[in-house]
Amino acid sequence: MRIRKLEKKDFFLFNQMDWSPLPKERDSIYLNLTIDQADCSFVAEEEGEFLGVILCTRSADGQSVYVNHIWVKKEARKKGIGGKLIARLERYAAQQGVRRVWLFCWDELKDWYRNQGYRESYSFLSPELKEYVRNVKKVRAFVKKF
Ligand SMILES: CC(C)(COP(=O)(O)OP(=O)(O)OC[C@H]1O[C@@H](n2cnc3c(N)ncnc32)[C@H](O)[C@@H]1OP(=O)(O)O)[C@@H](O)C(=O)NCCC(=O)NCCS
Repeated sequence: MRIRKLEKKDFFLFNQMDWSPLPKERDSIYLNLTIDQADCSFVAEEEGEFLGVILCTRSADGQSVYVNHIWVKKEARKKGIGGKLIARLERYAAQQGVRRVWLFCWDELKDWYRNQGYRESYSFLSPELKEYVRNVKKVRAFVKKF
């Protein structure tokens, strides 16, 4: 298994993804990442087979990276590929002078992110946004600082 940077030609890989529980239409949102932000997104593959992806956006000031989505093919889960994808992103981000990686996640994945060294934090959100994130969107915010 190898992990490499997402490339512009990789947009077709999104067709192979089972997006659930996200709607399939998300792929059009993420297309822009293959064009503008491929720099900090990575793909896991084995002998040409697409196994997973981490799609990220870097802030304009370059100080933070937001993980839009991390996904591993169902049959390939729980073999460490997701952990390797996020670790690769972090290594790259740290080399680039990024100070923090952050993301939103559902309750089911909170332990997974904790195991990857992330901690829940809302300090960078206004009280109104925190209320929206927790009680309307019903997701958690996690961050890892370097
Ligand atoms: C989240 C996801 C990317 C993890 O990828 P993965 O390759 O299965 O992760 P890893 O194999 O690196 O996980 C390592 C550990 O996490 C555990 N783990 C996997 N999914 C977990 C979960 N949902 N909650 C808690 N622990 C979990 C594994 O059991 C493993 O633990 P172990 O080494 O002690 O056995 C994958 O489950 C996925 O694609 N899910 C669907 C898409 C999704 O929900 N993305 C996240 C949006 S926020």
